[in-house]
Amino acid sequence: MKVPRAIRPILVVALAYAIVEAGIPAIGALLKPGTWPVVPAHLARIYLFFIANVVLLYTAADEVLWGRVRGELRYFFGADEVRVVRTLVIAAISLAGGYVAYDAVRPRLETPPELRAIHPAPPASFSIGGKAYDLSTLNNPLRADKSKFADHVKAGAELYFKNCFFCHGDKLDGKGHYADAFHPRPANFRDVGTIAQLRESYLFWRIATGGPGLPREGWPWMSSMPIWHRFLSETEIWQVILFLYDFTGQAPRVRDS
Ligand code: HEC
Repeated sequence: MKVPRAIRPILVVALAYAIVEAGIPAIGALLKPGTWPVVPAHLARIYLFFIANVVLLYTAADEVLWGRVRGELRYFFGADEVRVVRTLVIAAISLAGGYVAYDAVRPRLETPPELRAIHPAPPASFSIGGKAYDLSTLNNPLRADKSKFADHVKAGAELYFKNCFFCHGDKLDGKGHYADAFHPRPANFRDVGTIAQLRESYLFWRIATGGPGLPREGWPWMSSMPIWHRFLSETEIWQVILFLYDFTGQAPRVRDS
């Protein structure tokens, strides 16, 4: 079968596309059974861009070849006897372009991804009123003296019921009186997904700086969690933390795992 010259470069590019999209992954699958590696779309586009350019240069470099390709193109776009084919090809290209554009803008009913990081990485350090706290070394100072532990927990309980239970609930389950009004809802400390996974230093940072202290990756975060360092002393924050763990029977995550 004789393929017209003008079509050949297009076929070469199409073949290259097939190799990049299916050939390379197929080889990958053979090398590593059970997988189907893909060539990232932007990388595939770069390959094809270079391949198309090389094909174009190759075709244009030879006077005779280029002359023939041009002749065939002129024939395709000018001759009466290929009018029907020409019309079909042009219509197909236009429709394909139209479909790509339509596909890019058409509204899709997909559930929006949960963009928020619930427990974003804390900063390495933060400061309150000039005092800097290094989160990698910060520990709850109230755990040192065991004899005062019960007093601190009691003080923490009072603080909790004066300040936190409206939102976090009297059972620490995140079902306080105001809870339904907030999105995201106040944290449920009984859930193993909250304080049990966190270090005390993380809680200290979250309680001290509240919703506004969350880093950018927490966006869009409309947290109503107040900035507690404005109302509680450093010791009071540590006391309420002891209470949260003591009441729920959870243990804080320890350094470094
Ligand atoms: C006005 C309501 C409100 C009050 C009052 C409130 N919180 Fe919160 N708190 C929230 C909300 C909402 C969240 C969840 C969003 C977030 O993490 O910022 C939260 C999250 C937290 C977290 C983070 C938990 C996690 O898993 O990351 C801690 C810790 C916390 N609160 C402790 C407290 C303590 C202690 C108090 C009292 C001193 C308190 N909160 C008072 C609304 C409140």
